Amino acid sequence: MTSIVSTSALEKRFGGIVATQHVDLDIPEGELRCIIGPNGAGKSTLFALLCGIHAPDSGHIFLKDRDITALPSFRRVRLGLGLTFQTNRAFHDLTVRQNLEAPIRLPRGGRSSTSEERYQYALSTFGLDTTSDVPARELPHHRLQWLEIAMVLAGGPEVLLLDEPTAGLSPEETLQTARVLRHLNDDGLTIIVVEHDIAFVREVAERVTVLHQGAIFAEGTVADITAHDDVRRIYLGQA
Ligand SMILES: Nc1ncnc2c1ncn2[C@@H]1O[C@H](COP(=O)(O)OP(=O)(O)OP(=O)(O)O)[C@@H](O)[C@H]1O
Ligand SMILES: [Mg+2]
Repeated sequence: MTSIVSTSALEKRFGGIVATQHVDLDIPEGELRCIIGPNGAGKSTLFALLCGIHAPDSGHIFLKDRDITALPSFRRVRLGLGLTFQTNRAFHDLTVRQNLEAPIRLPRGGRSSTSEERYQYALSTFGLDTTSDVPARELPHHRLQWLEIAMVLAGGPEVLLLDEPTAGLSPEETLQTARVLRHLNDDGLTIIVVEHDIAFVREVAERVTVLHQGAIFAEGTVADITAHDDVRRIYLGQA
């Protein structure tokens, strides 16, 4: 299978701390991959490297065989990488509709569809249709979080990268988020999720990558991973 996102020998240090080491990640097109690991395992650092927030000390990152290691975030976005982080925050004084219209005007690299189609897709995916004229500041926390993902979808990405999309959500909202991500993945979108919540991971993932001390410790199906004694020892035991 063709990989859409991959890394080779990725390394990142902060002073004497090795946050990422020997990471060879390979995400096939169309997969929904969860990246998990105990506190300090290097999940957020790997996410930041993929987004272009941090530059690696060595190694490479590829998007569809193109080396994007040295590209800034906005160029990665143009090539089809859908990034959710601080700069994608919704504008609180704008309505849901206005927030979704902003990213649609941006140059994009991803899937082919008209801006109207992308707008409708982004709006309906998380059921935001009912709140399209509501200012973002009046949305409950989970809807604001969904709006921020929808803003990324409005850009028409080929790969969606999420860091703990269920942070602060109730179990029911977490489940709903999982269902929506599954649906998006069934529609062909490749999704990479860094996540802590094991219930969520069980709900969405096909394959899981476990990080430990900056390196890939194990990889497999959710069933493999949760049955893996060493993974239970380093991760599930602490959860
Ligand atoms: N900006 C930074 N400066 C210095 N050290 C950092 C920085 N970011 C991360 N680290 C260190 O790198 C290691 C990996 O941290 P990272 O935040 O990537 O882990 P994580 O898996 O996301 O952890 P958590 O589950 O707590 O979010 C840790 O030892 C952390 O202290
Ligand atoms: Mg983290």
